[in-house]
Amino acid sequence: MSVKRTSIHGQWSSRWAFVLAATGSAVGLGNIWKFPYITGENGGGAFVLVYLFCIACIGIPIMMAEILLGRRGRRSPINTMRVLAREGHHHPAWQYLGWIGVLAGFLILSYYSVIAGWALAYVFRAAGGLFVGAGGERVGEIFSALVTDPERLLAWHTIFVVMTMIVVSRGVQSGLEKAVRFLMPALFLLLAMLVGYAMSTGSFSQGMAFLFSPDFSKLTPAAVLIAMGHAFFTLSLGMGAIMVYGSYLPDDASIAQTSVTIALADTLVALMAGMAIFPIVFAHGLEPGAGPGLIFQTLPIAFGNMPAGTLFGTLFFVLLVFAAWTSAISLIEPAVAWLVENHGMSRVMASVWAGLITWVVGLGTVFSFNLWADDTIFGLTFFDLLDFATANVILPLGGLFIALFAGWTLSRKVTMDELKLGGISYQLWYILVRYVAPLAVVAIFLNVVGLLQFG
Ligand code: TRP
Repeated sequence: MSVKRTSIHGQWSSRWAFVLAATGSAVGLGNIWKFPYITGENGGGAFVLVYLFCIACIGIPIMMAEILLGRRGRRSPINTMRVLAREGHHHPAWQYLGWIGVLAGFLILSYYSVIAGWALAYVFRAAGGLFVGAGGERVGEIFSALVTDPERLLAWHTIFVVMTMIVVSRGVQSGLEKAVRFLMPALFLLLAMLVGYAMSTGSFSQGMAFLFSPDFSKLTPAAVLIAMGHAFFTLSLGMGAIMVYGSYLPDDASIAQTSVTIALADTLVALMAGMAIFPIVFAHGLEPGAGPGLIFQTLPIAFGNMPAGTLFGTLFFVLLVFAAWTSAISLIEPAVAWLVENHGMSRVMASVWAGLITWVVGLGTVFSFNLWADDTIFGLTFFDLLDFATANVILPLGGLFIALFAGWTLSRKVTMDELKLGGISYQLWYILVRYVAPLAVVAIFLNVVGLLQFG
């Protein structure tokens, strides 16, 4: 039986287009907003080391698995899982993996777009010169004035959801490639400049020590879980985003090479963000564990005190919005592709529906920072709960089952056929995806569950 399928949604123009799009998906708020603040909350170096280990031993093999499944199935993740299970005479329940992914995509995008809204708001604050000469206290006031105002947050959230739907409705292939080609290098240069500024603060070595010298006494089981969850989050794994991008990948592209390239670029951006932010934190006596507002309360100080800071600050937040934008579209693409395939909807209609659902769920996050800030379950707000449940539970579970499907259920012939790797490289992937990644995920889960019961 021939497996040369094509996707009804089209194909990337080249391997490069895929690398750019997948890197666009991976590099986003996770790298620049989330990585620094969770690193700050979890004590630094040791946490970073666990995160790097998870990227290499869990993230990369699972990314390869997702891409190969997508390219083999050439459909939305729900239908890809259904078809691959049927062809191999495996249990039809595998398709639920696709459903869980769609659910996770909505949940994540609902809060992602609220935070992206903060970045949008900051474009205008930076451009208006609000940060000029500002110190830690002033910058903190500007941040809390934004997040405690539900109407403003709602407005920015709405704008970002609409922006996302516009791109998704036109199809992720058109335009995205060009945007990412310019924006990624620009973002990279600006981050390099910010690291340069951080060197001038006098606390650079303290920031570097915080990030890179591990103190394992600070590493709790919960921190290990968060580091693993973040490895999934930052590489866009565990919910079908990379799988659906893989379904548009040309047949001759090397899955291993592209995965490693994407993971390296993603990790580099996260580490640079950390190197820019922590020296500023220490130089100004700020709190590394300040939480989700961390970058919004640190980088403006740099922009307020460097030459041409208004220009660079504006540019930085514009680029951050673009990075979030190219990530957001991948969160919703699995759902939109499925609506088009199974309900004969036009992409435009599918995008409108997806946008509406995202917008409504996002209200919970909008109010988490103001009206509902005191309504907590286990001490967590709606936003905290959503973030924890998606990044630290649903994505690793999704990733676990993707690894099990690729490593145990699919035949070796299928995976060899798609990966086209030489003996040792294939063996390495096979061991990682079959044993190392699943066992690591399960062990990290059990470690936390054990703590809850006996700790
Ligand atoms: N990786 C993106 C970031 O770091 C977020 C993202 C996009 C994502 N698509 C995803 C996270 C799919 C999990 C799953 O900002």
